[in-house]
Amino acid sequence: AKVVEYEWEVSYINAAPDCYSKTILGINGIYPGPTIRASQNDTVRVTMKNHVATEGITMHWHGIRQIGSPWADGTAAVSQCPIVYGESFTYEFTVDRPGTYFYHGHFGCQRAAGFYGSLIVDLPDGMYEPYHYEGEHMIIVNDWWHRGIIDQEQGLESTTFKWVGEPQSLLLEGRGRYNCSKVPKYDPAAISCNQTDERCAPHVWKVERGKTYRLRLASVASLSTLNFKIEGHMMQVVEADGHNIEPFYTDNIDIYSGETYSVLVHCNGTLDNYHLGLNVRGRTDKDVPTGLGILNYNNATAYQPNTPWPKGPAWDDFPASKAQAKKYKALRNNPDPTSHAFNKTEHAVTRTIILLNTQNKYQGHTKWAINNVTYAPLQTPLLAALVYNISGAVDLTPPPDYPTSGYNIFNPPANPNTNVGSGVYQFNTGDVVELILQNAATLTANQSEVHPWHLHGHDFWIMGYGDGVYDPIKSPFTFELDNPPARNNVPLFPFGWTAIRFKLDNPGAWPFHCHVEWHFHMGMGVMFAHGIDQVRQKGIPSSTLGCGLTKTLFKLNP
Ligand code: C2O
Ligand code: CU
Repeated sequence: AKVVEYEWEVSYINAAPDCYSKTILGINGIYPGPTIRASQNDTVRVTMKNHVATEGITMHWHGIRQIGSPWADGTAAVSQCPIVYGESFTYEFTVDRPGTYFYHGHFGCQRAAGFYGSLIVDLPDGMYEPYHYEGEHMIIVNDWWHRGIIDQEQGLESTTFKWVGEPQSLLLEGRGRYNCSKVPKYDPAAISCNQTDERCAPHVWKVERGKTYRLRLASVASLSTLNFKIEGHMMQVVEADGHNIEPFYTDNIDIYSGETYSVLVHCNGTLDNYHLGLNVRGRTDKDVPTGLGILNYNNATAYQPNTPWPKGPAWDDFPASKAQAKKYKALRNNPDPTSHAFNKTEHAVTRTIILLNTQNKYQGHTKWAINNVTYAPLQTPLLAALVYNISGAVDLTPPPDYPTSGYNIFNPPANPNTNVGSGVYQFNTGDVVELILQNAATLTANQSEVHPWHLHGHDFWIMGYGDGVYDPIKSPFTFELDNPPARNNVPLFPFGWTAIRFKLDNPGAWPFHCHVEWHFHMGMGVMFAHGIDQVRQKGIPSSTLGCGLTKTLFKLNP
């Protein structure tokens, strides 16, 4: 195994991903950020310097479990203090499992400011995937807004709540196309919304006729569920969140925010160019046009064909989404020894938690709450607070394992007021947790939203999905106990439940949250911790400290 090193300088840059010019966060002046490529068991070392005078930054390596390096997880308020202006921070971690991953900022809503890129882990030389391909390509998909994130965050936090609305564009590998004639003339960006700007030329994926490609997909979307489709081509899905799955064919794939996939595409088209199409699912697509890219054969001149744009099922066809979600099964006899195989005996449940997802009010602010607690990030990073036992840094009263009984999920909350907290669920290393996510109505009658939940530091098995209220007696009979897929991200469907199981085998402090950027910002997450003694023995770098009550550590031990 080798060490793969990167030096990153982070600054504001001007970009026009969908032809509309705006200020975003760039890495080494580019957007999306540079691709990290390493082989299994390599060490990745990234030194990131902050040149953004007005904001702290952190970077999260989404899907990398950070085994033995919880301090390198890149989550502000949890694993480290934000990197302040002018300072550098070095992340160092092992990439233990091959697969498709990505990285993104994990402070405020910086992911939505374009602060992300791809992370690919190859098999070591001489080892091969249980499927064959002759070339590969990666596309990160995203939804995009013209307003800046500070403005959007302020609207979400304000008592005169201002929702961000649906995205203006959908992007493939940082490129989309907005109809500039829709920009109001008084908007200063109107003069630089230019459809001939090279920066918003469609993303082109070049292939050779007759070959089979592995296309890697990842969604960093801030809100939307996206559906990807290639005109005239089928896809065979083979990998999900870094795990090989039982392959299946589809002509369109739902990608929830935080998910990664590999699909095999056999390129036997007869034309020069085909559309790559991205559409919104699960929320209205009324004002969100299809995001387009180009599949281009044999170096012919690339152009967007005149054929209709590719479109998957209708945005509100939830049965189609649920049917597709249920297709994922772990690959039987997976040759990869690091794959997370489920074993009924070894993974018998030692603790059950039910997390009710509701939309609420807190002192006039609109929030999302879990078992009636809305998450507020700590001032002192949780990991350091626990490792150094800093008194007063974190409330050690555990949050509730169950919602209050008799809650009616079908109606808006009878009492919309919620509590604020940053409590942490503490586990014993080795615990096997069965966690039920229970969805409910929002503050609006007859409305419930899709929430893609993401776990840091661990993978989980998806045991099942269901409609309505989870029944602790009956629902488990519907579980997939044979070969549930291991993932780190899972959708929770409107008015439904999702059951997952995971083993606490990686000491640290780890967020579990809705991957919708706006929802997590409005409090939709919980914190898990276990094995803190082990973390303490190994120690955490002092470069993660310096904010909140960790300042006192320096005063005691200068
Ligand atoms: Cu990709 Cu905590 O998220
Ligand atoms: Cu959500």
